Amino acid sequence: MSFPSSLSLPAAAPWWRPNSGQSIAIRGGRPLAGSYAISGAKNAVLPLMVSALLTPHLVTLRNVPASLDVAVLAALLQRLGAEMHWSTKAPGLSVTICADRLQPASIDGDLVSRMRASVLLLGALLGRCGEASLPMPGGDAIGLRGIDFHLSGLRAMGAEIELVGGVIHAKAPAGLAGADILLPQPSVGATENLLLAAALARGTTTIRNAAREPEVADLIACLVSMGARISGAGSHVLTVEGGAPLAGAVHDVMPDRIELGTLACAAAITDGELVLHQGSLDLLGAALPVLQAAGVELREIAGGLLARRSEAGLAGTDIVTQPYPGFATDLQAPLMALLSIAGGASAVTETIFEQRFLHVGELRRMGANIAVHGRTALIRGVPELRGAAVACTDVRAAAALVIAALGATGETTLTGLDHLDRGYEQMAEKLAACGADIVRY
Ligand code: UD1
Repeated sequence: MSFPSSLSLPAAAPWWRPNSGQSIAIRGGRPLAGSYAISGAKNAVLPLMVSALLTPHLVTLRNVPASLDVAVLAALLQRLGAEMHWSTKAPGLSVTICADRLQPASIDGDLVSRMRASVLLLGALLGRCGEASLPMPGGDAIGLRGIDFHLSGLRAMGAEIELVGGVIHAKAPAGLAGADILLPQPSVGATENLLLAAALARGTTTIRNAAREPEVADLIACLVSMGARISGAGSHVLTVEGGAPLAGAVHDVMPDRIELGTLACAAAITDGELVLHQGSLDLLGAALPVLQAAGVELREIAGGLLARRSEAGLAGTDIVTQPYPGFATDLQAPLMALLSIAGGASAVTETIFEQRFLHVGELRRMGANIAVHGRTALIRGVPELRGAAVACTDVRAAAALVIAALGATGETTLTGLDHLDRGYEQMAEKLAACGADIVRY
């Protein structure tokens, strides 16, 4: 995936530094040491940015990750008429979004087709403007990733939706109305989209079988501070008393639990030791016992989490991805990289996405012994991975290949770096500061 030159990131996200090159070379085997600042969560900040479209008042988000997805969404919001004011003062990036003059007709096809989270614009724009048209969203190549739950939920709220030539046309001439919606699966995106729509819809919306991910709870917390009346956060049943105009808010984006788990794997695979700022044991949730079983020692210290390989060494363990509070699918690939050199065997079963083993072929090029049977990958730990030329195929596969390369002997070159940049802020630079032999060129 590459981003078109028509995409004016500098205007929308002036902090965005196009990374210097399209390849990364990593010479593995160096133990990482030092501090690594965990960013605000990618999967939280995107819906939070969209929530600013629900009000003409100012919404300020702090602890914003300086990632490509954020820059692309900023460009999209700007094309819709929102203004963005960025501040790069410590302790991190923050943005104030002003959406007092929206132009819902002007959504850009190129931008939307590149990011699946752009589908969240449907709920927010239908609620605020009564109409929205956008191309079918894109995103990672990890499965069917339909948006049928989003569309049927919005239809239940009174939206009229047509799909013509790959473009979704949605309108709610009489405004959206509350509805009782049962999601077939606890979809994160559909839950967020329906929350955004319900906040301005007349009457009560109930979302059953809602996703319980902490990023959904972060969105709810922001909406509540804007004045929305939402109950049930953290549970499978969310109730929204909609209709009242929303005010502005100031909200801190939660830290990225996926980046946290990924960097813990980096510390362990290199037999190094990292202090992961903003990290905590709680944030890891179901990943904590899995990481520990795999031989990652984790301890809370002032300001963060200390991660290193346990004295007993790396050990194979089994994983089944599940909706929250189960083990997150987004950590499956990074952990598989670690398990590739763990003693013994591991079985990794992916239940959320049907094509989320694209990294397996690349790990095999590095010498991993992994066999895929349907939705389960069987890993027999090998003594070492070897450097190779590999390509990133999605955001989390990219992180997994970085982990594998850090732990491998010899040099690995990675291409397809847009995927890495979508989800991680300056990962190569931050790892270099912790002693990795990594260059982008
Ligand atoms: C979000 C995360 C992503 C994470 C995923 C699961 C963001 C920006 N992305 O993606 O990193 O991997 O949650 O934790 O937050 N589905 C349908 N129809 C729908 C909606 C979903 O069939 O209308 C299916 C999907 O194909 C998938 C499953 O439901 O198999 C879960 O998808 P969902 O929870 O919606 O993932 P996203 O919100 O896209």
